[in-house]
Amino acid sequence: MEKNIESYLIEKRVFKAPRSFARTARIPSRAVYERLYRESIRQPEKFWAREARELVWQAPWKRVLEWKAPFAKWFIGGRLNISENCLDRHLTTARRNKAAIIWEGEPGDRRTLTYQQLHREVCRFANVLKRNKIRKGHRVIIYMPTIPEAAIAMLACARIGAVHSVVFGGFSADSIRDRIADSGAVAVVTADGGYRRGAVVPLKKNVDDALTGETSIKRVIVFRRTASDIHMEEGRDVWWHRELEYVNADCPAAPLESEHPLYILYTSGSTGKPKGILHTTGGYLVGAYCTTKYVFDLRDEDVYWCTADVGWVTGHSYVVYGPLANGATTLMYEGAPDWPEPDRFWRIIEDYGVSVLYTAPTAIRAFIRWGDAWVRKHDLTSLRLLGTVGEPINPEAWMWYHEKIGGGRCPIVDTWWQTETGAIMISPLPGATATKPGSATLPFFGIDAAVVDEQGEEVGPNVGGKLVIRRPWPSMLRTIYGDKTRYKKQYWSEFKGSYLTGDGARRDHDGYFWIVGRIDDVLNVAGHRLGTSEIESALVSHKHVAEAAVVGRPDEMKGQGVVAFVTLKENVTASPSLKEELRKHVSTHIGAIAKPDEVRFAEALPKTRSGKIMRRLLKEIASGRTVTGDTTTLEDFNVLARLSRGEE
Ligand code: PRX
Repeated sequence: MEKNIESYLIEKRVFKAPRSFARTARIPSRAVYERLYRESIRQPEKFWAREARELVWQAPWKRVLEWKAPFAKWFIGGRLNISENCLDRHLTTARRNKAAIIWEGEPGDRRTLTYQQLHREVCRFANVLKRNKIRKGHRVIIYMPTIPEAAIAMLACARIGAVHSVVFGGFSADSIRDRIADSGAVAVVTADGGYRRGAVVPLKKNVDDALTGETSIKRVIVFRRTASDIHMEEGRDVWWHRELEYVNADCPAAPLESEHPLYILYTSGSTGKPKGILHTTGGYLVGAYCTTKYVFDLRDEDVYWCTADVGWVTGHSYVVYGPLANGATTLMYEGAPDWPEPDRFWRIIEDYGVSVLYTAPTAIRAFIRWGDAWVRKHDLTSLRLLGTVGEPINPEAWMWYHEKIGGGRCPIVDTWWQTETGAIMISPLPGATATKPGSATLPFFGIDAAVVDEQGEEVGPNVGGKLVIRRPWPSMLRTIYGDKTRYKKQYWSEFKGSYLTGDGARRDHDGYFWIVGRIDDVLNVAGHRLGTSEIESALVSHKHVAEAAVVGRPDEMKGQGVVAFVTLKENVTASPSLKEELRKHVSTHIGAIAKPDEVRFAEALPKTRSGKIMRRLLKEIASGRTVTGDTTTLEDFNVLARLSRGEE
């Protein structure tokens, strides 16, 4: 039998939910959370139905859930439209003239769309889609910068029942081609270009390259963003602004079945061939809506900013659908965080009075590396709540975020979830949950999360194991597009009736969840199974370290040896004595068992475009092999070349 994952880094700091926050919060105390959570687990269908009733249904559902494991249907018989819930339903209220989207482009251009304006644009573009013979059920690729038109295109597809598949604007022609082939899409919505670090990303050119040879694409609709010189293919390509001239703004929202597909989003995780994760209408909306409401506890006066690109699931659930379904003001920013200087985020927060900020640990570690002076230049007192997502946040990065960005007063919601889960699954609720740096804390209502051993038995406190979800939830993926077998095998085959997340975790004595990394990355050192995140967090707690990634390499004596790749803060000089100091630092913080056999300094680490460290590549480098396998999701190939050559 395989042993459980061991834990050595025990974090003792606890931060109570601030009183001022709890006073007005929807869930004002741990006791209220506990009561509602218990109810939601005892009678999940009752809980979800109550949330669903806050939304607009064109026909009521007959049954809340049909569960023929591993296939779930939610709100069966119900009909609704997500764009109606995100737009029309606010038009009869004071939110009609409230900002729905506040947008800033990288060059500094600005736009604000009220709910009424956004509704109008979505209706017009939905009519453009219809005019171009795009119908209910057709798949549409959206390959755009983070501009309001990306959200408009998504909502317009949803309005007519077309299924969107957003492809991140940083992906290449080959990635677009693969996604078109897998989804059988009939149209692409794109822009002539987008801005990134002052340069123009040639989006349309990439689309052209993806469409050479045989393709299912009949139409390409191009938004003019950069006024770049591009090729327009006669008979295939049309301009967004020209098409608008032919349509009006009258487009009723199609009444769609609750299980009608809403979108396919391709995810590679950090390994393997991309999978088309399929989400459907009713359940997904309920999940995105109600997690946004409770986790961010949004108020009408909030300016809410999720920094994710629309190409990721976070951009879907927490830039577009969740906030708009709640009638919130969602801020979008097109460009890089360090353009033109590393204080761009702080400048935006000050300029717009952002009150809720949701970003990723990878960004936080970059800010730490760039230095506090950039932060101090700006007034960040408008912030009241902070969030993170995407990776375990190292406790020291959490502390920095709390003190330097949150001024010590803002709760932090560390939200654990996945493209597959559609919505947040484990997270503090800001008025109710005391937080501990590095822990995503407690499961959301209706989410039966557990840590289990190889036999599927729940383990005791502080014992590591596999994180599973033991019952279906509304925003769960329905399948991998076109591949039910893979869906079953990947997520549901290991433990009967439980969804396998692929993450390792432990729960502490308070029932808090600590994600220790992906199961595939767990190290086995002299018979001890160690998650990556604790060793990395120990390294990041050293004053000179900005970022660290730990991997195993074959070791004759120990089974695996520990290799740490470390990025230092700016202005710190790499030296052999610092390497030794870091090895000792890990040893004193978590024990000799985790002491790295080798520390390698790296100017940067290989990451996916969404900022996750690609440990698989580092494993190959650490064991002296050449890197093989899929590297298409890698952000910067130069990083890999430098690491392979052993340059520091
Ligand atoms: O390993 C977990 C990590 O990111 C994975 C999901 O990645 P993706 O599908 O790209 O979705 C990212 C945005 C939801 C998870 O399996 N992860 C995500 N959030 C956290 C996290 N790990 C630890 N703590 C988190 N808060």
